[in-house]
Amino acid sequence: MADADIIRGLSAYLEARRELEGGLYLEDSLLESPGQLYCRSEDNFPSLAVFEKDISGCMKCPLGKTRTNFVFGTGNPHADIVFIGEAPGRDEDLQGEPFVGRAGQLLNKMLPQYGLKRSDIYICNILKCRPPGNRDPLPLEIELCEPYLWKQLEIIKPQILVSLGRIAAQTLLKTDAPLAKLRNNMHQYRNTPFFITYHPAALLRNNSLIDSAYQDLAKIKEYYDKVKS
Ligand code: URA
Repeated sequence: MADADIIRGLSAYLEARRELEGGLYLEDSLLESPGQLYCRSEDNFPSLAVFEKDISGCMKCPLGKTRTNFVFGTGNPHADIVFIGEAPGRDEDLQGEPFVGRAGQLLNKMLPQYGLKRSDIYICNILKCRPPGNRDPLPLEIELCEPYLWKQLEIIKPQILVSLGRIAAQTLLKTDAPLAKLRNNMHQYRNTPFFITYHPAALLRNNSLIDSAYQDLAKIKEYYDKVKS
């Protein structure tokens, strides 16, 4: 590993520790072998923070020039369940966090009805930057950005994935099957059980879908409880 990488990792690790514990300290084992910063299996928070730091200046596609903030993802870095949306919208772009707008607020109200809090889950998007005018992600943007999601999932190691909405589901499964069909089955994405439900923005637009969305959440929670027990 290059010295610059080690120093970047070290700095992100110290920042994470400072946030958590209000002070600076470095374990002796890390001083002896700073390369561990990238692969501490018992504590993945520094790795996720390091990864965010590494990629948050991404300029691989033109969205790098139009974004306000890079929206990496938020939540429990040890989550058993990860929710995946399509791309940041206007509020997310402005605040640098996924699902903070009206759709996110609806999700925050729905999750607790099934015993899930935002702080239990991890949430992110396929694209980390907002497409102008909230248009659908372009194939090149997906090709360049989806590997960041793969790496996040490798670090978090969740047991369940949930796609929020048709676009995220079709993109991840490389299919054009309709959402109504996709949400009836459990799928696999990168060897992890993968559920599909409505995007909360669709529920805001069409209230009649809400019962079906709650049925999906009930099914997901049943599976989550099985995994946790
Ligand atoms: N829609 C998404 O797909 N993601 C967000 O973060 C917000 C809205």
